[in-house]
Amino acid sequence: MKISFDALPAKPGEIAIRFVTSDRRGEIVPAVPEQEFSGQPNSILFFREQETLYIGLGSREKVTASTLRSAAGTAAMFLKKIGRKQLAVHLEEWPQFTGAVVEGLILADYRFEQFSSRKTSAIDTLRVLVLAGDIKAARRDGPRGAIIAGAANLSREIGNQPGNLLYPETLAARAVKMAKENGLAITVLNEARLRAGKFGGLLAVGAGSVRPPRLIVIHHRKGPKNQAPIALVGKAITFDTGGISIKPAADMENMIFDKCGGMAVLGAMAGIAKLGLKRNVVGIIASAENMPGAGAYRPGDIVTAYDGKYIEIINTDAEGRVVLADAIAYARKTCNAAAIVDLATLTGACCVALGEHAAGLWSSDETLGKRVLSASEKSGERLWPMPLYPEYDEQIRSNVALIKNSAGRLGGACTAAAFLKTFAEKTPWAHLDIACTAHRDNDRPDMARGATGFGVRTLIELVESWQ
Ligand code: BES
Ligand code: MN
Ligand code: ZN
Repeated sequence: MKISFDALPAKPGEIAIRFVTSDRRGEIVPAVPEQEFSGQPNSILFFREQETLYIGLGSREKVTASTLRSAAGTAAMFLKKIGRKQLAVHLEEWPQFTGAVVEGLILADYRFEQFSSRKTSAIDTLRVLVLAGDIKAARRDGPRGAIIAGAANLSREIGNQPGNLLYPETLAARAVKMAKENGLAITVLNEARLRAGKFGGLLAVGAGSVRPPRLIVIHHRKGPKNQAPIALVGKAITFDTGGISIKPAADMENMIFDKCGGMAVLGAMAGIAKLGLKRNVVGIIASAENMPGAGAYRPGDIVTAYDGKYIEIINTDAEGRVVLADAIAYARKTCNAAAIVDLATLTGACCVALGEHAAGLWSSDETLGKRVLSASEKSGERLWPMPLYPEYDEQIRSNVALIKNSAGRLGGACTAAAFLKTFAEKTPWAHLDIACTAHRDNDRPDMARGATGFGVRTLIELVESWQ
């Protein structure tokens, strides 16, 4: 997609996109009945004769960056469907949302079709139209939006890959490619190095698969030499069968998306590098395939995590926290992180609590929690604060080890978070459970089905706004 910014009106061949708040609906000429165009968010009116697409924004007082991001996405999806690929977006009235609009268009332009025979065509050209005095700001905000959405789409493209093709080794190779393209330093710990480093959690979860696990460590070093890095940690189970505590067959195919926490980290690192953010950031991706093989770990096992803590395995399907135990301990002990933010498709319980409409947020540190929340308000990726009551710690206490990996159904998302907190110790830590926001089963008006890239935009925003 070629993007430009100017003040010239729509040219022949282009479709003009105009955003309309509901109070201004009546100004459309010729007038249309309300049933045909309500002006509500994401409502559509296409005037073929005028080569103009109107998109509703709802009431003016409620318009935010998210409204525009979604409206722009709705426009792009609609125009792609009817095969129009040259867009001129009128933002004379909304120049402050240039970044969000560019994001929305690029997110909507993406669809996973590497293996499908029916390919949709991408948007060719996009012109963002603002008043002459706003062009300079648009030329700054628009390209930033394009980088951020591109990072999310990279995360989605890898997230959508099937488990037979994308497994820890091939994921690591893909991460190496990303790092090279973006000038990032990367280290991949293979099975031998994981053994030498005593990554007992990651090795245990990976043991049931013929495809050995990997720990992928990506460094962005653009801050002062001795500045402690922000650590972004992701769960990347390339397929989660549940292991010996095997899952029921229904919907198990969706467990290809159990790598999406790691993919959020991978996408964010690409975006952070492309934006050249002046901070030290380390991305840590813990990748394994959770299979019920002959070598698989079993309920009752006692596993030693990277930091020496003993974990009693109750349920091999609670594998995410076991690989993250190692990755979080590694961030704290070896990377000496100033703060740790982890993302994981961790619990079905989080889906029950919040549905697909928000991810859960837990934090051991008030300042960090606030930072993450305000980043999410800007990105439009909804997070909802969840508790870390000491009673959850009691629930996961083990009789034979320090901690057990499952405490049953009650408060399942919170006991999982309490488990992770143990491995962060005193380092400020935040956890995002993205179990039901990481992928979608169906197309939405502003985004195609499959991996959503959830978290990428919030992480970039978080690092960018870190003081
Ligand atoms: N990857 C799953 C969580 C999940 C479930 C994500 C559904 C998306 C949709 C995770 O590894 C898991 O299996 N968690 C268990 C934990 C339980 C055994 C304590 C769960 O949620 O049932
Ligand atoms: Mn599982
Ligand atoms: Zn899982």
